[in-house]
Amino acid sequence: MDRIKIVGGAELKGSIPIAGAKNAALPLMIASLLTPDTLELENVPRLSDVRMLKRILGNHGVDVMVAGKRAGDSGEGGEVVRLCAAKIVDTTAPYELVSQMRASFWVIAPLLARMGEAKVSLPGGCAIGTRPVDLLLMALERLGAEITIEAGYVHARAPNGLKGAEIAFPKVTVGGTHTALMAAVLAQGTSVIRNAAREPEVTDLANCLVKMGARIKGIGSSTLEVEGVAALRGAVHRVLPDRIEAGTYAFAAAMAGGDVTLEGVTPDLLQAALDKLSQAGAEVSATNNGIRIRRNGRGIMAVDITTEAFPGFPTDLQAQFMALMTRAGGTSHITETIFENRFMHVQELARLGAKIRLDGDMAIVEGAQTLKGAPVMATDLRASVSLVIAALAAEGETMISRVYHLDRGFEGLEAKLARCGAQIERIRG
Ligand code: EPZ
Repeated sequence: MDRIKIVGGAELKGSIPIAGAKNAALPLMIASLLTPDTLELENVPRLSDVRMLKRILGNHGVDVMVAGKRAGDSGEGGEVVRLCAAKIVDTTAPYELVSQMRASFWVIAPLLARMGEAKVSLPGGCAIGTRPVDLLLMALERLGAEITIEAGYVHARAPNGLKGAEIAFPKVTVGGTHTALMAAVLAQGTSVIRNAAREPEVTDLANCLVKMGARIKGIGSSTLEVEGVAALRGAVHRVLPDRIEAGTYAFAAAMAGGDVTLEGVTPDLLQAALDKLSQAGAEVSATNNGIRIRRNGRGIMAVDITTEAFPGFPTDLQAQFMALMTRAGGTSHITETIFENRFMHVQELARLGAKIRLDGDMAIVEGAQTLKGAPVMATDLRASVSLVIAALAAEGETMISRVYHLDRGFEGLEAKLARCGAQIERIRG
């Protein structure tokens, strides 16, 4: 298994191209199941989660083609992926595949909407909490699906098609909103989705569905009105930039000090995180092609955060902000409201010398600690990158194992940081 070695202390200077968003690419790829025509996605990140989803979609009969590389292509800028579900050969998504990636459960919506039936394994637990799918199933039931759960599989049936309905989510759910949207676009009649997630990745999916012929009003708001259509067509769509990757490198730059431009991303995608970063003492500015982060000489100040649905501070940046706060001049309070068990990184950060106390859904971080390199272990995707951030400012060498977690969501992490001056290398094997 690969490991990543980091020797801390180097400032970061330069620019980092931000990849397409994993959490947009996954539902967009799944949306290809809604049409027999080709959906062409540009700027698809090269990630193991994307590769896994290609396999899962292939199992349903989707023809997945990656456009050839052109001469001189640096490999940056993502892949162009063409997905064609001309014929769906299997409406079952088996446990072996779904258990490896939760988002693959979302295939249930387009399969049901187009084929009138889907049998999808329950995704099971995961490192950051129980993560149930009750609200996703509630949405499908509201649209007229009959749902049974047997032997670990959800069987959804709508032999006469789905019917438009009102779906009111009792709490904001990204996956629930993706599911409701992908089912409602092919339902007969109008659906209204209330308390919909407003995450940019939901908006990206909705915009792509509109290009495919869907009728959706209220995109970007918490009430989405969907007028069902009989069929959808192919489209060409560019995956939006990854706000979590951008926020991660922004915090890394603040941690290590220096001057870094994040190319291709706009501040509106992560304003709440950038505001907190400014309060912590980094200079944040928008440039023509991205966001510039500087911290020259000034210390890091302690700032409290609470994770919230968009446009609040994202849970997917909580671990990275905690790493930054270990070096702040004071105590900060980090409250996690989205997932009940998303503090797996605390123990590993402690191995580097961080002082963090847990009190229910709050982590209390005593800053100004001198971090010292140590062997640590990645536990989930965002937790593992928080260890990278901490290691950049730790004295000496940190060796991170189980980096397959990082490869699920960060394209070319070590190359991107190394080109800004970080001492980081991947040790294969
Ligand atoms: C998406 O997960 C993201 N995953 C997560 O990113 C992200 O942390 C999360 O949204 C919140 O922003 C992808 O986009 C692939 P939710 P999702 O449904 O859709 C509860 C990463 O690191 N809930 O918005 O699964 C749930 O338990 C990942 O890239 C129910 O109770 O999240 C949670 O407490 C990690 N019942 C809350 O809602 C349900 O049926 C929000 O979850 C569904 C969710």
